[in-house]
Amino acid sequence: MSNGKKVLLIISGGISAYKSLELIRELKVRNIKVRCILTTAGSQFVTPLSVEALTGDKVYQDLFSLTETNEMGHIELSRDADLIVVAPATANIIAKMRAGIADDLATTALIATDKSVLIAPSMNVKMWEHASTQSNMMELQQRGINVIGPETGDMACGEYGVGRMSEPLSIAQKINEVLLENKGMLQNQIITKTKPMKLVGRKAIVTSGPTKEAIDPVRYLTNHSSGRQGYAIAKALSEQGAETILISGPTQLPSPSGVTVKHVNSALEMLAACKEFLPADIVICAAAVADWRIANPNINKIKKNGELPVLELIENPDILLQISQLTKNRPYLVIGFAAETQDLIKNAQAKLSKKGCDWIMANDVSPETGTFGSEKNTIHIISKDGVEAWPTLTKEIIGQKISIRIAEFLDGLS
Ligand SMILES: Cc1cc2nc3c(=O)[nH]c(=O)nc-3n(C[C@H](O)[C@H](O)[C@H](O)COP(=O)(O)O)c2cc1C
Repeated sequence: MSNGKKVLLIISGGISAYKSLELIRELKVRNIKVRCILTTAGSQFVTPLSVEALTGDKVYQDLFSLTETNEMGHIELSRDADLIVVAPATANIIAKMRAGIADDLATTALIATDKSVLIAPSMNVKMWEHASTQSNMMELQQRGINVIGPETGDMACGEYGVGRMSEPLSIAQKINEVLLENKGMLQNQIITKTKPMKLVGRKAIVTSGPTKEAIDPVRYLTNHSSGRQGYAIAKALSEQGAETILISGPTQLPSPSGVTVKHVNSALEMLAACKEFLPADIVICAAAVADWRIANPNINKIKKNGELPVLELIENPDILLQISQLTKNRPYLVIGFAAETQDLIKNAQAKLSKKGCDWIMANDVSPETGTFGSEKNTIHIISKDGVEAWPTLTKEIIGQKISIRIAEFLDGLS
């Protein structure tokens, strides 16, 4: 337990600041001492009086207050805590943390600290998806800042998407986890997250990664796919409650928790695995399946004997086409990926009608885009209803967005 630990809670100016009052209560019942900094914007959402009543301490707001400097300067305030928690963390404070801006008590305490920091982002879905916020979050995570949420759900502004602050109970549990980790005391605790699950009762199959087509026992044909996008989609579908099977070509990625992972090498193995797990409600073919394989791979290593070997190629089965054209138990939704280096939309539209799938997620994989292997992707969704361009987002966010889109589509069928 984190008995007697001290948390410095920074409440910044987000609509979910009211939930931080509940968070203070959750921490107090765990016998964690809470001191609170309220940003100027934060004080528009919760009153200093409420915070003081709940913490049993004065609330810290002003960097230049003499009493605060005497009693508890910003450096001491941040150093005295075992952990600094920013909840809610606004897009603004996240950006300031990344840039090292220290223009108020909260941001000065954050830059002055040598303790662990946990942030609970909370904002409108468009603010969260904005390239600046995504880039700031990636940088902060790389620096070792702990993050919880945001969650997917209805927002105060009436929109639906990713951006809701995690629930106080989840944040309190995460705080406990980080405090114990700091002490090297984590004892395989299960952290429960409250999530609205929109795909409970649905089964999804996702293919991902490259395939390897053997030339001989030591050589093969493959491509640059990292598998990241498919893995992120499988993770997001599972987080929405879908029973998710990920059929993965060779990658270096860890298996997403809650997902059944079937590892395969070749296109033929991938097709066999799809057939093994079908029927399903949703199939997403994100794998970069090799179009061709070697007709007769050598049983033994081909020796270098002065003559160039002739490799005969034959076409691999088209997994997306086969699943799209199932006449019995066809999935409600079959989604393919088009990785193109030219005429992205035109080629993706052609693929949609040729394969008979429902949506194509088209992405430009020209070397200059850095899509293969990178954390980000730029997607166009092509369907019979038209083309929808998404901004450049992390593959994680694309996974979350597509899983919401799928849930909405399936809801519309019933
Ligand atoms: C009604 C209202 C609700 C807001 N909610 C949020 C929010 O949930 N998340 C966010 O990042 N910014 C939100 N903002 C904008 C922030 O309050 C604004 O960016 C402010 O400068 C943040 O200051 P701070 O980070 O120092 O607290 C909201 C603004 C208003 C007027």
